[in-house]
Amino acid sequence: MSHHLLEGKKGLIFGALNDKSIAWKIAEKAHEEGAVFVLSNAPFALRLGEIDQLAEKTGSKVIAADATSLEDLENLLIQSQDILGGKIDFLLHSIGMSPNVRKKKSYDDLDYRYFLQTLDISALSFHKMLQAAKKLDALNDYASVVALSYIASQRTFYGYNDMADAKALLESIVRSFGYIYGRSKGVRVNSISQSPTMTTAGSGVRGFDGLFDYANRISPLGNASAEECADYCLTLFSDLTRKVTMQNLFHDGGFSSMGMSERAMGVYNKNLDTLPEEW
Ligand SMILES: NC(=O)c1ccc[n+]([C@@H]2O[C@H](COP(=O)([O-])OP(=O)(O)OC[C@H]3O[C@@H](n4cnc5c(N)ncnc54)[C@H](O)[C@@H]3O)[C@@H](O)[C@H]2O)c1
Repeated sequence: MSHHLLEGKKGLIFGALNDKSIAWKIAEKAHEEGAVFVLSNAPFALRLGEIDQLAEKTGSKVIAADATSLEDLENLLIQSQDILGGKIDFLLHSIGMSPNVRKKKSYDDLDYRYFLQTLDISALSFHKMLQAAKKLDALNDYASVVALSYIASQRTFYGYNDMADAKALLESIVRSFGYIYGRSKGVRVNSISQSPTMTTAGSGVRGFDGLFDYANRISPLGNASAEECADYCLTLFSDLTRKVTMQNLFHDGGFSSMGMSERAMGVYNKNLDTLPEEW
């Protein structure tokens, strides 16, 4: 059911790859709530073609941009304003990729060229987006900018690898740019720290099924789905949250406040003696 939360708002949504993507769900729900927007993804992702279905469903245009390229981002911001007929009210960064994770390099055997790519794609791209938008004055007063993060930015999760460092940097950019953009234009900048979610990026993490199950058992409300993440994100794009900025907001069913749950304890107790000492 639509609440017309985003009626009249213009947006730019990065990162919808397929119908599992968190950005895909956000785009569908933003459309239901009355927003108009441009969809963007890297050229390789657009070649897969699935985003065209989303574009058709939501009446949106798709523009290719490699989020690590300032030139692509500037062109995208200029073209999007032409298409939408004005400045942008909300911007979603739902982008993450680690070549080290892809190549199954462990954290104590990283390839540093890949590491720099991880940081560039998953974190610096967010700074580039904000900097390009500010220089072009592409965002409306009180616009809302949201990035997707994960709790491995603050605590160690085996298998998340150099993406943890990228998310720590991303969350720091949220604060640093949030201050600058807040003072100059009232623009809100936040990140949502989402539960493990079954998507292409998520499933690429080593041991993801175990991580998903563990978080689900330990969170009093269970893992938050991509659809629920989209609902939360819409509140941040809406005018109902105009004084929320520079925050990393947990959307994780309570996971981030938990230590041990009764259910997880049950599982742990069953297997207590089966693992070698050093684990
Ligand atoms: N899935 C999870 O468990 C989970 C949990 C917390 C946070 N997140 C974050 O949510 C965001 C979205 O991921 P998702 O889970 O929906 O997976 P996804 O694979 O559907 O989305 C990742 C997107 O990043 C895009 N991308 C990669 N390189 C790019 C580049 N150079 N330029 C532009 N786009 C590029 C991909 O094309 C893809 O659309 C990511 O930031 C991810 O880290 C995911």
